[in-house]
Amino acid sequence: MTDIRDVEDWATDWDHHHPDWVADPFPIWEDLRGRCPVAHTDRYNEGLWLPTRHEDIAAIAHDTGTFSSGHDGATAGGTSPRGKFPPIHLDPPEHLEVRRALLPFFTPRRMAHWEPAIRDHCDELARSLADRGTVDLAQDYAAHIPASAIAMILGIPPSVGARFRVWMHKLELGDLHVHERDEALGEMIPYFTEQVEDRRTNPSDDLIGHLVASGIDGEPIADDELVRMLILLLIAGIDTTWGLIGASLWHLSTHPEDRRRLVAEPELLPVAIEEFLRAFASVSLYRKVTQQATVGDVVMEPGDSLLMAFPAACRDPEVFDRADEVLIDRQPNRHVAFGLGIHRCLGSNLARLEIEHAIGSWLRHVPEFELAPDAEVTWAEGALRGPRSIPVTIG
Ligand code: HEM
Repeated sequence: MTDIRDVEDWATDWDHHHPDWVADPFPIWEDLRGRCPVAHTDRYNEGLWLPTRHEDIAAIAHDTGTFSSGHDGATAGGTSPRGKFPPIHLDPPEHLEVRRALLPFFTPRRMAHWEPAIRDHCDELARSLADRGTVDLAQDYAAHIPASAIAMILGIPPSVGARFRVWMHKLELGDLHVHERDEALGEMIPYFTEQVEDRRTNPSDDLIGHLVASGIDGEPIADDELVRMLILLLIAGIDTTWGLIGASLWHLSTHPEDRRRLVAEPELLPVAIEEFLRAFASVSLYRKVTQQATVGDVVMEPGDSLLMAFPAACRDPEVFDRADEVLIDRQPNRHVAFGLGIHRCLGSNLARLEIEHAIGSWLRHVPEFELAPDAEVTWAEGALRGPRSIPVTIG
């Protein structure tokens, strides 16, 4: 955990790296929604806004003319920006063509092709951990599933997944630890450049091979852009889903009635997963204001930055009854964990598939588990939320 100074008033000095936010942001959002509802901090960039209501966050997501995705992330103390990763940091019209080039790899049909491999991987992993007395569900289980799935889709051996996870860990610290972030990018860029060069000499059927061969609208993609697209798939595809799988299992390790119900009624799992997505939404993104705009009761000026806290929108009681409770049979459940509008998550089919098999396999092999006595559950800090350690005892 980063050494962070205390917060006196979250409305004027919020901090998503502060230990209180990291451990439990929900009461903070609830307080802000009631009395603010758009908070501000001077700790990052030239100042950073935080809308907390579903209504405001949805309006911003749909207004790409006023709120640009071309944002460099939160930086503090004059640290250097990390650059942009297409398509998530692009605005129309450039955004659409990059998104269109990636879409075919994440359709339900493509996912059906990958499903047996993802299911088998979850099954093997759960089986291999089932006879241990204690397991760290975040490190020993959840972390492995998205890294190996994305490696498979890119056409990289799953064993490289371990390296992906080290890079993600360093990037996750990135907002405040620029050295670590730059170190990770310094390894990822040459690694993916090599992969792209390899597909030029050895054409292949994987995602990298396709993008190298087909380009975008028939035009070749410049190497540095292609490499940044591939890095985005790692950033967007690993920690996000790791966080969701981990948080869902953490919930089940602390709520035996829900765990027993899902073991007895596995057909409820898809509904429960939507609720885990809502309650433990893991992804917030930044936007840059391009023209004066009023959000809630504040006026934002061109050049202002804001954090799009989709997880806060998912907990807004104006939209969700008993918003701070996890109801595994909640229906309907129109959560916004995957965002809204043109940037809505491209990997949502993949994420759902991974979460479903991760939880399903775990419950099949390990129906009885609970948080270990005196366990210290730790959480990622910053714009990505999810548990990083969940020690449980089995049986
Ligand atoms: C539970 C897991 C996940 C969550 C909660 C999540 C959430 C999100 C959110 C909120 C956005 C919108 C960004 C914005 O508005 O600026 C997004 C975009 C995106 N996600 Fe995910 N995501 C998850 C998993 C994945 C996976 C597995 C992939 C696959 C690689 C992926 C790829 C992407 C991409 C490429 C975008 C950018 C789309 C665009 O800009 O058009 N995500 N995701």
